Amino acid sequence: MTNTLTQKTDNQPYKIEEWQRGYDSQPNEYEYEITEIEGEIPAELSGTLFRNGPGLLDIGGSAIHHPFDGDGMISAFSLKDGKAYYRNRFVQTEAYVNEKKAGKILYRGVFGTQKPGGLFNNIFDLKLKNIANTGVIYWGGKLLALWEAAEPHRLDPKTLATIGIEYLDGVLEPGDAFAAHPWIDPSCVMDNGTPCLVNFRVNPGLSSKITLFEFAPDGKLLRCHSHSIPGFSFIHDFIITPHYAIFFQNSVGFNPLPFLLGMRGAGECVEFQPDKPTTVILIPRDPNNKEVKTFSVKSGFVFHHANAFEQDNQVCIDSIAYQTLPQVQPNSNYKEVDFDSLDPGQLWRFTLNLDDGNVESQMLESRCCEFPTHNPSKVGREYRYLYMGAVPSDTGHNAPLQAILKLDLDTGERQIHSFAPGGYVSEPIFVPKPNAEAEDAGWILTVVYDGSRHRSTLAILDGENLAREAIALLHLKHHIPYGLHGSWCNEVFI
Ligand code: CO
Repeated sequence: MTNTLTQKTDNQPYKIEEWQRGYDSQPNEYEYEITEIEGEIPAELSGTLFRNGPGLLDIGGSAIHHPFDGDGMISAFSLKDGKAYYRNRFVQTEAYVNEKKAGKILYRGVFGTQKPGGLFNNIFDLKLKNIANTGVIYWGGKLLALWEAAEPHRLDPKTLATIGIEYLDGVLEPGDAFAAHPWIDPSCVMDNGTPCLVNFRVNPGLSSKITLFEFAPDGKLLRCHSHSIPGFSFIHDFIITPHYAIFFQNSVGFNPLPFLLGMRGAGECVEFQPDKPTTVILIPRDPNNKEVKTFSVKSGFVFHHANAFEQDNQVCIDSIAYQTLPQVQPNSNYKEVDFDSLDPGQLWRFTLNLDDGNVESQMLESRCCEFPTHNPSKVGREYRYLYMGAVPSDTGHNAPLQAILKLDLDTGERQIHSFAPGGYVSEPIFVPKPNAEAEDAGWILTVVYDGSRHRSTLAILDGENLAREAIALLHLKHHIPYGLHGSWCNEVFI
Protein backbone atom coordinates (compact mmCIF):
# COMPACT_ATOMS: atom_id res chain seq x y z
CA MET A 1 0.00 0.00 0.00
CA THR A 2 1.32 3.44 -0.84
CA ASN A 3 1.85 6.04 1.82
CA THR A 4 -1.13 8.04 3.02
CA LEU A 5 -0.78 11.62 4.19
CA THR A 6 2.84 11.07 5.06
CA GLN A 7 4.15 14.30 3.62
CA LYS A 8 5.08 16.91 6.18
CA THR A 9 2.70 19.85 6.25
CA ASP A 10 2.33 22.93 8.43
CA ASN A 11 -0.88 24.61 9.52
CA GLN A 12 -0.34 27.57 7.21
CA PRO A 13 2.45 26.65 4.86
CA TYR A 14 1.96 29.52 2.43
CA LYS A 15 3.04 33.14 2.39
CA ILE A 16 0.07 35.35 1.53
CA GLU A 17 2.22 37.78 -0.47
CA GLU A 18 3.48 34.88 -2.62
CA TRP A 19 -0.08 33.61 -3.12
CA GLN A 20 -1.20 37.12 -4.16
CA ARG A 21 1.38 37.37 -6.96
CA GLY A 22 -0.32 34.44 -8.68
CA TYR A 23 -2.95 37.05 -9.55
CA ASP A 24 -0.50 39.32 -11.37
CA SER A 25 -1.54 39.87 -14.99
CA GLN A 26 0.28 37.97 -17.73
CA PRO A 27 -0.04 40.31 -20.73
CA ASN A 28 2.55 38.48 -22.88
CA GLU A 29 1.85 35.80 -25.47
CA TYR A 30 4.50 33.07 -25.79
CA GLU A 31 5.35 30.15 -28.04
CA TYR A 32 8.35 27.92 -27.29
CA GLU A 33 9.58 24.42 -26.57
CA ILE A 34 9.76 23.75 -22.83
CA THR A 35 13.33 22.72 -22.10
CA GLU A 36 13.62 23.15 -18.33
CA ILE A 37 12.31 19.73 -17.34
CA GLU A 38 12.83 17.67 -14.18
CA GLY A 39 12.16 13.97 -14.68
CA GLU A 40 11.00 12.62 -18.01
CA ILE A 41 7.81 13.14 -20.01
CA PRO A 42 6.35 9.67 -20.71
CA ALA A 43 6.71 8.93 -24.44
CA GLU A 44 3.14 7.48 -24.57
CA LEU A 45 1.70 10.73 -23.19
CA SER A 46 0.73 12.34 -26.47
CA GLY A 47 -1.82 15.11 -26.94
CA THR A 48 -2.71 18.63 -25.89
CA LEU A 49 -3.68 20.07 -22.53
CA PHE A 50 -5.78 23.21 -23.06
CA ARG A 51 -6.32 25.55 -20.12
CA ASN A 52 -8.43 28.67 -19.73
CA GLY A 53 -8.44 31.38 -17.08
CA PRO A 54 -8.15 35.11 -16.53
CA GLY A 55 -4.92 36.42 -18.06
CA LEU A 56 -5.38 40.09 -17.22
CA LEU A 57 -6.18 41.14 -13.66
CA ASP A 58 -5.83 44.82 -14.54
CA ILE A 59 -6.60 46.91 -17.58
CA GLY A 60 -4.30 49.84 -18.22
CA GLY A 61 -3.18 49.62 -14.60
CA SER A 62 -6.73 49.68 -13.13
CA ALA A 63 -7.32 46.49 -11.15
CA ILE A 64 -10.44 44.54 -12.01
CA HIS A 65 -12.73 43.81 -9.09
CA HIS A 66 -12.71 40.00 -9.23
CA PRO A 67 -10.63 37.42 -11.15
CA PHE A 68 -13.88 36.06 -12.66
CA ASP A 69 -13.95 39.36 -14.63
CA GLY A 70 -10.47 38.78 -16.11
CA ASP A 71 -10.02 38.41 -19.87
CA GLY A 72 -9.77 34.78 -21.00
CA MET A 73 -6.30 33.54 -21.90
CA ILE A 74 -5.84 30.07 -23.37
CA SER A 75 -2.71 28.02 -22.71
CA ALA A 76 -1.85 24.93 -24.77
CA PHE A 77 0.71 22.35 -23.64
CA SER A 78 1.46 20.03 -26.56
CA LEU A 79 3.17 16.78 -25.56
CA LYS A 80 4.67 14.43 -28.14
CA ASP A 81 7.56 11.96 -28.19
CA GLY A 82 8.73 13.05 -24.76
CA LYS A 83 8.86 16.74 -25.77
CA ALA A 84 6.66 19.63 -24.73
CA TYR A 85 5.65 22.89 -26.38
CA TYR A 86 3.85 25.80 -24.77
CA ARG A 87 1.84 28.62 -26.24
CA ASN A 88 -0.70 31.07 -24.87
CA ARG A 89 -3.02 33.56 -26.56
CA PHE A 90 -5.73 35.86 -25.33
CA VAL A 91 -9.19 35.22 -26.71
CA GLN A 92 -9.71 38.20 -29.00
CA THR A 93 -13.17 39.04 -27.72
CA GLU A 94 -14.69 42.30 -28.90
CA ALA A 95 -14.23 43.70 -25.40
CA TYR A 96 -10.58 42.60 -25.10
CA VAL A 97 -9.73 44.19 -28.44
CA ASN A 98 -11.54 47.45 -27.62
CA GLU A 99 -10.10 47.76 -24.11
CA LYS A 100 -6.60 46.97 -25.32
CA LYS A 101 -6.91 49.75 -27.90
CA ALA A 102 -8.31 52.19 -25.34
CA GLY A 103 -5.94 51.20 -22.54
CA LYS A 104 -8.73 51.43 -19.98
CA ILE A 105 -11.84 49.67 -18.65
CA LEU A 106 -14.79 50.19 -21.03
CA TYR A 107 -17.24 47.53 -19.81
CA ARG A 108 -18.91 46.43 -16.63
CA GLY A 109 -17.98 42.94 -15.40
CA VAL A 110 -20.41 40.42 -13.93
CA PHE A 111 -18.37 40.26 -10.73
CA GLY A 112 -18.25 43.93 -9.93
CA THR A 113 -15.69 45.53 -12.21
CA GLN A 114 -17.07 48.98 -13.01
CA LYS A 115 -16.11 51.53 -15.56
CA PRO A 116 -14.30 54.55 -14.14
CA GLY A 117 -16.50 57.55 -13.47
CA GLY A 118 -18.57 56.15 -10.62
CA LEU A 119 -22.29 55.62 -10.38
CA PHE A 120 -23.36 57.97 -13.16
CA ASN A 121 -21.14 56.32 -15.71
CA ASN A 122 -22.38 52.82 -14.82
CA ILE A 123 -26.08 53.37 -14.14
CA PHE A 124 -28.34 51.38 -16.49
CA ASP A 125 -25.37 50.20 -18.54
CA LEU A 126 -26.38 46.57 -18.82
CA LYS A 127 -23.89 45.68 -21.53
CA LEU A 128 -21.67 42.95 -20.13
CA LYS A 129 -18.33 41.78 -21.35
CA ASN A 130 -18.22 38.30 -22.92
CA ILE A 131 -14.84 37.42 -21.43
CA ALA A 132 -14.49 33.80 -22.61
CA ASN A 133 -12.41 32.90 -19.55
CA THR A 134 -13.86 29.78 -17.91
CA GLY A 135 -13.55 26.58 -19.93
CA VAL A 136 -12.04 25.28 -23.15
CA ILE A 137 -12.91 22.13 -25.11
CA TYR A 138 -12.07 20.58 -28.47
CA TRP A 139 -15.14 18.89 -29.98
CA GLY A 140 -16.38 18.26 -33.50
CA GLY A 141 -13.16 19.68 -34.94
CA LYS A 142 -13.63 23.01 -33.14
CA LEU A 143 -11.70 24.47 -30.22
CA LEU A 144 -14.11 26.51 -28.09
CA ALA A 145 -13.38 29.00 -25.31
CA LEU A 146 -16.38 28.95 -22.99
CA TRP A 147 -18.01 31.50 -20.69
CA GLU A 148 -21.37 30.63 -19.19
CA ALA A 149 -23.26 33.88 -19.83
CA ALA A 150 -22.68 34.22 -23.58
CA GLU A 151 -21.72 32.43 -26.79
CA PRO A 152 -18.46 30.47 -27.09
CA HIS A 153 -15.50 31.81 -29.08
CA ARG A 154 -13.90 29.51 -31.64
CA LEU A 155 -10.10 29.34 -31.81
CA ASP A 156 -7.58 27.75 -34.16
CA PRO A 157 -6.30 24.73 -32.16
CA LYS A 158 -2.83 25.09 -33.69
CA THR A 159 -2.17 28.81 -33.26
CA LEU A 160 -4.87 29.64 -30.67
CA ALA A 161 -5.83 32.57 -32.92
CA THR A 162 -9.44 33.64 -32.41
CA ILE A 163 -11.71 32.77 -35.34
CA GLY A 164 -14.78 34.47 -33.86
CA ILE A 165 -18.00 33.93 -31.96
CA GLU A 166 -19.27 30.41 -32.60
CA TYR A 167 -22.97 29.64 -33.12
CA LEU A 168 -22.49 25.86 -33.46
CA ASP A 169 -24.01 25.60 -36.95
CA GLY A 170 -27.08 27.60 -35.99
CA VAL A 171 -27.80 25.88 -32.67
CA LEU A 172 -27.13 29.20 -30.89
CA GLU A 173 -28.47 32.61 -31.80
CA PRO A 174 -26.70 35.91 -31.12
CA GLY A 175 -26.70 36.56 -27.37
CA ASP A 176 -27.43 32.93 -26.42
CA ALA A 177 -25.55 31.60 -23.42
CA PHE A 178 -23.71 28.27 -23.48
CA ALA A 179 -22.34 26.93 -20.20
CA ALA A 180 -18.63 26.48 -19.51
CA HIS A 181 -18.98 22.94 -18.08
CA PRO A 182 -19.68 20.38 -20.81
CA TRP A 183 -19.34 16.65 -20.08
CA ILE A 184 -18.44 13.94 -22.54
CA ASP A 185 -20.66 10.89 -22.08
CA PRO A 186 -18.16 8.15 -22.96
CA SER A 187 -20.85 5.76 -24.22
CA CYS A 188 -24.31 7.18 -24.81
CA VAL A 189 -27.19 4.68 -24.43
CA MET A 190 -29.30 6.67 -26.89
CA ASP A 191 -26.59 6.53 -29.59
CA ASN A 192 -25.57 2.85 -29.48
CA GLY A 193 -22.59 3.56 -27.24
CA THR A 194 -21.09 6.43 -29.25
CA PRO A 195 -19.66 9.28 -27.13
CA CYS A 196 -21.52 12.58 -27.07
CA LEU A 197 -20.94 16.04 -25.64
CA VAL A 198 -23.59 17.29 -23.20
CA ASN A 199 -23.91 20.94 -22.19
CA PHE A 200 -26.61 23.36 -21.08
CA ARG A 201 -27.66 26.94 -20.74
CA VAL A 202 -29.71 28.67 -18.07
CA ASN A 203 -31.92 31.66 -18.69
CA PRO A 204 -32.42 32.91 -15.13
CA GLY A 205 -35.39 35.00 -14.07
CA LEU A 206 -38.36 34.74 -11.70
CA SER A 207 -38.54 31.26 -13.17
CA SER A 208 -35.53 29.76 -14.94
CA LYS A 209 -35.33 27.93 -18.23
CA ILE A 210 -32.74 25.15 -18.54
CA THR A 211 -31.88 24.04 -22.08
CA LEU A 212 -29.97 20.81 -22.61
CA PHE A 213 -27.79 20.20 -25.70
CA GLU A 214 -26.20 16.93 -26.87
CA PHE A 215 -23.73 16.84 -29.76
CA ALA A 216 -22.33 13.95 -31.83
CA PRO A 217 -18.54 13.55 -32.23
CA ASP A 218 -18.75 15.36 -35.59
CA GLY A 219 -20.32 18.37 -33.83
CA LYS A 220 -23.88 17.83 -35.15
CA LEU A 221 -26.73 18.48 -32.72
CA LEU A 222 -28.34 15.24 -31.54
CA ARG A 223 -30.86 16.49 -28.99
CA CYS A 224 -31.99 19.84 -27.59
CA HIS A 225 -34.84 20.47 -25.16
CA SER A 226 -35.83 23.11 -22.61
CA HIS A 227 -37.49 22.92 -19.20
CA SER A 228 -38.91 25.63 -16.99
CA ILE A 229 -37.93 25.60 -13.30
CA PRO A 230 -39.67 27.76 -10.68
CA GLY A 231 -37.48 30.42 -9.05
CA PHE A 232 -34.16 32.11 -9.74
CA SER A 233 -31.19 29.86 -10.54
CA PHE A 234 -27.47 30.38 -10.37
CA ILE A 235 -26.11 27.18 -11.94
CA HIS A 236 -22.44 27.03 -12.92
CA ASP A 237 -21.96 23.28 -13.40
CA PHE A 238 -24.10 20.16 -13.81
CA ILE A 239 -23.52 16.42 -13.98
CA ILE A 240 -24.84 13.57 -16.10
CA THR A 241 -25.69 9.90 -15.78
CA PRO A 242 -26.72 7.70 -18.73
CA HIS A 243 -30.36 8.79 -18.31
CA TYR A 244 -30.31 12.14 -16.47
CA ALA A 245 -28.83 15.61 -16.54
CA ILE A 246 -28.66 16.81 -12.93
CA PHE A 247 -28.73 20.42 -11.74
CA PHE A 248 -28.44 21.92 -8.26
CA GLN A 249 -30.59 25.00 -7.79
CA ASN A 250 -28.51 26.58 -5.03
CA SER A 251 -29.90 28.39 -1.99
CA VAL A 252 -29.64 31.83 -3.51
CA GLY A 253 -31.82 34.70 -4.63
CA PHE A 254 -31.15 37.66 -6.88
CA ASN A 255 -31.60 41.30 -6.00
CA PRO A 256 -31.15 43.11 -9.32
CA LEU A 257 -31.46 46.69 -8.02
CA PRO A 258 -27.80 47.40 -7.22
CA PHE A 259 -26.85 45.98 -10.62
CA LEU A 260 -29.41 48.07 -12.51
CA LEU A 261 -28.36 51.15 -10.55
CA GLY A 262 -24.75 50.62 -11.52
CA MET A 263 -23.49 50.03 -8.00
CA ARG A 264 -22.60 46.36 -8.24
CA GLY A 265 -21.88 43.67 -10.79
CA ALA A 266 -24.64 41.15 -11.46
CA GLY A 267 -22.62 38.41 -9.75
CA GLU A 268 -22.52 40.48 -6.56
CA CYS A 269 -26.31 40.64 -6.46
CA VAL A 270 -26.64 36.89 -6.00
CA GLU A 271 -27.55 36.57 -2.32
CA PHE A 272 -27.10 33.44 -0.26
CA GLN A 273 -30.33 32.48 1.52
CA PRO A 274 -29.51 30.04 4.33
CA ASP A 275 -33.19 29.32 5.08
CA LYS A 276 -33.84 28.15 1.52
CA PRO A 277 -33.14 24.49 0.68
CA THR A 278 -31.16 23.46 -2.39
CA THR A 279 -33.32 21.84 -5.07
CA VAL A 280 -31.82 18.97 -7.04
CA ILE A 281 -33.37 18.74 -10.52
CA LEU A 282 -33.20 15.54 -12.59
CA ILE A 283 -34.01 16.16 -16.24
CA PRO A 284 -34.32 13.02 -18.41
CA ARG A 285 -31.78 13.21 -21.24
CA ASP A 286 -34.22 11.47 -23.57
CA PRO A 287 -36.32 14.34 -25.01
CA ASN A 288 -39.35 12.02 -25.21
CA ASN A 289 -39.37 11.62 -21.43
CA LYS A 290 -40.77 14.82 -19.94
CA GLU A 291 -40.84 13.60 -16.32
CA VAL A 292 -38.56 16.07 -14.47
CA LYS A 293 -37.94 15.01 -10.86
CA THR A 294 -36.98 17.37 -8.02
CA PHE A 295 -35.49 16.66 -4.60
CA SER A 296 -34.83 18.90 -1.64
CA VAL A 297 -31.54 18.96 0.28
CA LYS A 298 -30.19 21.17 3.08
CA SER A 299 -29.14 24.68 2.08
CA GLY A 300 -25.67 25.11 0.72
CA PHE A 301 -23.80 26.10 -2.38
CA VAL A 302 -22.25 23.94 -5.07
CA PHE A 303 -20.03 25.21 -7.87
CA HIS A 304 -18.68 21.87 -9.07
CA HIS A 305 -19.81 18.28 -9.28
CA ALA A 306 -17.38 15.38 -9.24
CA ASN A 307 -19.53 12.65 -10.74
CA ALA A 308 -22.90 10.89 -10.53
CA PHE A 309 -24.16 7.40 -11.22
CA GLU A 310 -27.33 5.31 -11.22
CA GLN A 311 -27.65 2.33 -8.90
CA ASP A 312 -30.96 0.39 -8.81
CA ASN A 313 -33.61 2.92 -7.77
CA GLN A 314 -31.02 5.46 -6.63
CA VAL A 315 -28.94 8.22 -8.14
CA CYS A 316 -25.71 9.14 -6.31
CA ILE A 317 -24.17 12.57 -6.85
CA ASP A 318 -20.72 13.58 -5.56
CA SER A 319 -20.22 17.34 -5.31
CA ILE A 320 -18.05 19.95 -3.62
CA ALA A 321 -20.42 21.85 -1.31
CA TYR A 322 -20.00 25.00 0.78
CA GLN A 323 -22.17 25.64 3.85
CA THR A 324 -22.51 29.25 2.75
CA LEU A 325 -21.78 31.08 -0.49
CA PRO A 326 -18.42 32.82 -0.58
CA GLN A 327 -19.96 36.10 -1.73
CA VAL A 328 -18.17 38.79 -3.70
CA GLN A 329 -18.24 41.94 -1.55
CA PRO A 330 -18.45 45.33 -3.28
CA ASN A 331 -15.82 47.17 -1.27
CA SER A 332 -13.33 44.38 -0.71
CA ASN A 333 -10.10 43.43 -2.43
CA TYR A 334 -10.09 39.75 -3.44
CA LYS A 335 -6.35 39.59 -2.74
CA GLU A 336 -6.93 40.56 0.90
CA VAL A 337 -9.17 37.52 1.49
CA ASP A 338 -9.36 36.15 5.03
CA PHE A 339 -9.34 32.44 4.22
CA ASP A 340 -10.23 31.47 7.79
CA SER A 341 -13.53 33.35 7.51
CA LEU A 342 -14.61 31.34 4.44
CA ASP A 343 -16.28 27.95 4.62
CA PRO A 344 -14.22 25.17 3.09
CA GLY A 345 -15.47 23.37 0.00
CA GLN A 346 -16.09 19.78 1.12
CA LEU A 347 -16.90 16.62 -0.80
CA TRP A 348 -20.42 15.29 -0.23
CA ARG A 349 -22.39 12.37 -1.62
CA PHE A 350 -26.11 12.95 -2.13
CA THR A 351 -28.07 9.71 -2.63
CA LEU A 352 -31.49 10.29 -4.18
CA ASN A 353 -34.16 7.62 -3.80
CA LEU A 354 -36.19 7.76 -7.02
CA ASP A 355 -39.09 5.79 -5.47
CA ASP A 356 -39.80 7.74 -2.29
CA GLY A 357 -38.04 11.08 -3.02
CA ASN A 358 -35.76 10.85 0.03
CA VAL A 359 -32.22 12.17 -0.02
CA GLU A 360 -29.34 10.99 2.11
CA SER A 361 -26.34 13.31 2.49
CA GLN A 362 -22.92 12.07 3.56
CA MET A 363 -19.67 14.00 3.83
CA LEU A 364 -16.90 12.06 2.10
CA GLU A 365 -14.05 14.53 2.65
CA SER A 366 -13.92 17.35 5.20
CA ARG A 367 -10.61 18.78 4.04
CA CYS A 368 -11.04 21.92 1.90
CA CYS A 369 -11.04 20.81 -1.74
CA GLU A 370 -12.17 21.96 -5.20
CA PHE A 371 -11.87 21.07 -8.90
CA PRO A 372 -12.72 17.33 -8.67
CA THR A 373 -11.81 15.04 -11.58
CA HIS A 374 -11.64 11.34 -12.44
CA ASN A 375 -11.01 8.92 -15.29
CA PRO A 376 -13.11 10.27 -18.21
CA SER A 377 -14.34 6.75 -19.05
CA LYS A 378 -16.26 6.87 -15.74
CA VAL A 379 -18.36 9.98 -16.39
CA GLY A 380 -21.88 9.13 -15.16
CA ARG A 381 -20.80 5.63 -14.10
CA GLU A 382 -19.92 3.96 -10.81
CA TYR A 383 -16.32 4.84 -10.14
CA ARG A 384 -13.66 4.34 -7.51
CA TYR A 385 -11.02 7.07 -7.70
CA LEU A 386 -11.45 10.80 -7.36
CA TYR A 387 -8.73 13.46 -7.65
CA MET A 388 -9.10 17.03 -6.37
CA GLY A 389 -7.18 20.18 -5.63
CA ALA A 390 -6.93 20.32 -1.83
CA VAL A 391 -5.31 22.09 1.08
CA PRO A 392 -2.14 20.30 2.20
CA SER A 393 -3.48 19.70 5.71
CA ASP A 394 -6.99 19.73 7.14
CA THR A 395 -7.41 22.80 9.34
CA GLY A 396 -11.21 22.89 9.03
CA HIS A 397 -10.91 26.19 7.14
CA ASN A 398 -10.65 27.40 3.61
CA ALA A 399 -7.09 27.95 2.35
CA PRO A 400 -5.22 28.03 -0.97
CA LEU A 401 -5.15 24.69 -2.77
CA GLN A 402 -1.55 23.49 -2.63
CA ALA A 403 -1.94 19.76 -3.06
CA ILE A 404 -3.64 17.13 -5.19
CA LEU A 405 -5.65 14.59 -3.21
CA LYS A 406 -6.59 11.14 -4.46
CA LEU A 407 -9.54 9.52 -2.71
CA ASP A 408 -10.34 5.81 -3.01
CA LEU A 409 -14.11 5.80 -2.62
CA ASP A 410 -14.14 2.03 -1.93
CA THR A 411 -11.60 1.92 0.89
CA GLY A 412 -11.38 5.56 2.01
CA GLU A 413 -7.63 5.49 1.42
CA ARG A 414 -6.15 8.87 0.62
CA GLN A 415 -2.96 9.79 -1.19
CA ILE A 416 -1.69 13.34 -1.31
CA HIS A 417 0.87 15.12 -3.42
CA SER A 418 1.70 18.45 -1.83
CA PHE A 419 3.41 21.41 -3.49
CA ALA A 420 3.51 23.43 -0.23
CA PRO A 421 5.01 25.74 0.83
CA GLY A 422 5.66 27.53 -2.49
CA GLY A 423 3.31 25.80 -4.94
CA TYR A 424 -0.37 26.49 -5.69
CA VAL A 425 -2.22 23.93 -7.79
CA SER A 426 -4.90 24.31 -10.44
CA GLU A 427 -7.61 21.86 -11.50
CA PRO A 428 -6.13 18.38 -12.00
CA ILE A 429 -6.86 16.62 -15.30
CA PHE A 430 -6.76 12.81 -15.59
CA VAL A 431 -5.28 11.34 -18.79
CA PRO A 432 -5.73 7.55 -19.03
CA LYS A 433 -2.72 5.50 -20.13
CA PRO A 434 -3.27 3.96 -23.57
CA ASN A 435 -4.84 0.47 -23.31
CA ALA A 436 -4.78 0.53 -19.50
CA GLU A 437 -7.22 -1.61 -17.54
CA ALA A 438 -7.01 -0.15 -14.03
CA GLU A 439 -9.21 2.90 -13.42
CA ASP A 440 -6.34 4.88 -11.88
CA ALA A 441 -3.75 3.92 -14.51
CA GLY A 442 -3.07 7.34 -15.94
CA TRP A 443 -1.40 10.68 -15.46
CA ILE A 444 -2.60 13.64 -13.46
CA LEU A 445 -1.71 16.95 -15.11
CA THR A 446 -1.87 20.15 -13.08
CA VAL A 447 -0.44 23.62 -13.62
CA VAL A 448 1.27 24.73 -10.42
CA TYR A 449 2.07 28.38 -9.65
CA ASP A 450 5.47 28.53 -7.94
CA GLY A 451 5.16 31.52 -5.62
CA SER A 452 8.82 31.55 -4.65
CA ARG A 453 9.94 31.97 -8.30
CA HIS A 454 6.84 33.70 -9.72
CA ARG A 455 6.69 31.12 -12.48
CA SER A 456 4.37 28.25 -13.38
CA THR A 457 5.11 24.58 -13.88
CA LEU A 458 3.15 21.77 -15.51
CA ALA A 459 3.36 18.80 -13.14
CA ILE A 460 2.80 15.25 -14.45
CA LEU A 461 1.87 12.97 -11.53
CA ASP A 462 1.31 9.22 -11.32
CA GLY A 463 -2.44 8.49 -11.03
CA GLU A 464 -1.81 5.11 -9.39
CA ASN A 465 0.80 6.25 -6.89
CA LEU A 466 0.03 9.93 -6.45
CA ALA A 467 2.26 10.48 -3.43
CA ARG A 468 5.46 9.47 -5.19
CA GLU A 469 7.66 12.18 -6.65
CA ALA A 470 6.36 13.84 -9.81
CA ILE A 471 7.00 11.92 -13.03
CA ALA A 472 7.97 15.21 -14.66
CA LEU A 473 7.96 18.92 -13.83
CA LEU A 474 7.90 21.16 -16.91
CA HIS A 475 9.01 24.63 -15.87
CA LEU A 476 7.74 27.58 -17.89
CA LYS A 477 9.78 30.76 -18.35
CA HIS A 478 7.01 32.89 -16.76
CA HIS A 479 3.88 32.59 -14.67
CA ILE A 480 0.28 31.85 -15.70
CA PRO A 481 -2.28 33.57 -13.44
CA TYR A 482 -4.46 31.10 -11.48
CA GLY A 483 -6.67 29.39 -14.05
CA LEU A 484 -10.16 27.95 -14.07
CA HIS A 485 -10.85 24.93 -16.28
CA GLY A 486 -9.13 22.93 -18.98
CA SER A 487 -9.39 19.73 -20.95
CA TRP A 488 -7.20 17.10 -22.55
CA CYS A 489 -7.33 16.23 -26.23
CA ASN A 490 -5.51 13.21 -27.70
CA GLU A 491 -4.56 15.17 -30.83
CA VAL A 492 -1.35 17.16 -31.13
CA PHE A 493 -1.59 20.42 -33.08
CA ILE A 494 1.95 21.42 -33.99
CO1 CO B 1 -16.27 25.81 -12.92
